[in-house]
Amino acid sequence: MNGKLVYIRSFGCQMNKLDSALVSSALKDAGFTLVESVDNADVVLINTCSVRRHAEEKVLSHLGHLKHLKENKPALVVGIIGCMAQRLGDELLRHKAVDIVCGPTQIPQLTGLINKSLQQKQKSVAVTSQIRQKVSDRQAQTLEEFESAYDTDDKQLPSQAFVRVMHGCNKFCTYCIVPYVRGPEVSRPPQAIIEQIKKLADHGIKLVTLLGQAVNSYSYTAGEKTYCLADLLYMAAQINGIEWIRFVTNYPSEKIFDEICQAMADSPKVCKYLHIPAQSGSDKILKAMNRKYTAAGYLNLLDRAKTVVPALAVAGDFIVGFPGESEDDFAATVELVKKARYKNCFIFKYSPRPDTIAEKNLPDDVPIETKRRRNIELLAVQEKISNELSSQFLNKQVKVLVEGLSKKPHLNADDKTGSPSVVSEVEPQLIGRTAEDWIVVFNGPQNLAGQFADIKITRTSPLTLFGELID
Ligand code: SAH
Ligand code: SF4
Ligand code: F3S
Repeated sequence: MNGKLVYIRSFGCQMNKLDSALVSSALKDAGFTLVESVDNADVVLINTCSVRRHAEEKVLSHLGHLKHLKENKPALVVGIIGCMAQRLGDELLRHKAVDIVCGPTQIPQLTGLINKSLQQKQKSVAVTSQIRQKVSDRQAQTLEEFESAYDTDDKQLPSQAFVRVMHGCNKFCTYCIVPYVRGPEVSRPPQAIIEQIKKLADHGIKLVTLLGQAVNSYSYTAGEKTYCLADLLYMAAQINGIEWIRFVTNYPSEKIFDEICQAMADSPKVCKYLHIPAQSGSDKILKAMNRKYTAAGYLNLLDRAKTVVPALAVAGDFIVGFPGESEDDFAATVELVKKARYKNCFIFKYSPRPDTIAEKNLPDDVPIETKRRRNIELLAVQEKISNELSSQFLNKQVKVLVEGLSKKPHLNADDKTGSPSVVSEVEPQLIGRTAEDWIVVFNGPQNLAGQFADIKITRTSPLTLFGELID
């Protein structure tokens, strides 16, 4: 143990959560101790996201606090990692609070950079100047070794782990920064992925979520065979100890779509859950976004999926207020949401990202009030659908993987008056999720965290089911 304390704060998507977990495990191996607060930390790492302006603003405001903290504690080392580090590089290093800037493809170097900074008090930056260039074989190997070394996970929810199946993205949706900060698509070798899942299972992991920006683009050729995502799902389902397998995020494309649905139908371990963002329901806007499908084509994919997997839960993402989005275009999105019958949707207001195709070529011409109104309207449409879908669970029994204590007190399932539930020390309010990703709140012993439990649903709301633990 080197006695130094590290605090990691993570913003952004599951890729970043996974990177934070990889970094945590590498730092622990190097003798650091992870702490839950900045107060007594020797090193603070912020894992950043660039996907919308707001995501970057949150980090900058955090850096403002750290600057103050550093005035009283000059020895503190502050490192910025993740997508914003790659996007801004030296510009971030010039910030008074920042000592280290390290991009996503450089994270294997991070422990070394931290040690150097602790010893020599030097600023350092490790980002790539040519992010769209394929990494060298040596670099790829270093990254793979760093990634596959990771086999336990106390940063994530108990019994759950993310496993990256591919890096980067080649889709170049015109609004999106990800291809410029995460680099080109590179699929990991299937053997490495499967070995890693086996090791995770040996450490008690029951649910793995396979990660890729367009996870269904996974493709790896070894000898005669080219492996696709469906192959990975079947192989992962063979692993003892793994009970549930999810995969996110799917790009709406014909390629291997039927095979993936078949894997969901064939294997009870593959969760019947498909996160498949449509982004818009207007063909004109989809084209301007460089999304390579039409609204009808997208709905056809969903129909096919639901034929093979009738119990399928579908989740989506939408951007409202993309350049040129008229009221008619927005109405087409509302129509699509009604037809798709998502379990839930993430809805974002368009945010121009520097140097993306849309930012360079299309004026951000939808006023912010219109973006806000469309966001609220679409949410309301979705809420009604979520409510209809969730109410079907009333009086039914569901199986959940218990995540742990519910962070915010939910209303008591039995209490129609709406008063907060009495928090019992023996049976506090817990939260779990079904295989299809429905959130379930119930009271039970805290040591159920990480275990499966059967719950009888006694009340429903659009996004949350409430119930009672069945002994
Ligand atoms: N790779 C995933 C998710 C990428 S980012 C996918 O393709 O589905 C997550 C979501 O953020 C996207 O689905 C999109 O809805 C949203 N998003 C991306 N760029 C955005 C931007 N510039 N403005 C607003 N929302 C954006
Ligand atoms: Fe961004 Fe599109 Fe790639 Fe998703 S598929 S990460 S939205 S470029
Ligand atoms: Fe954000 Fe990077 Fe993920 S930009 S959404 S953290 S890949």
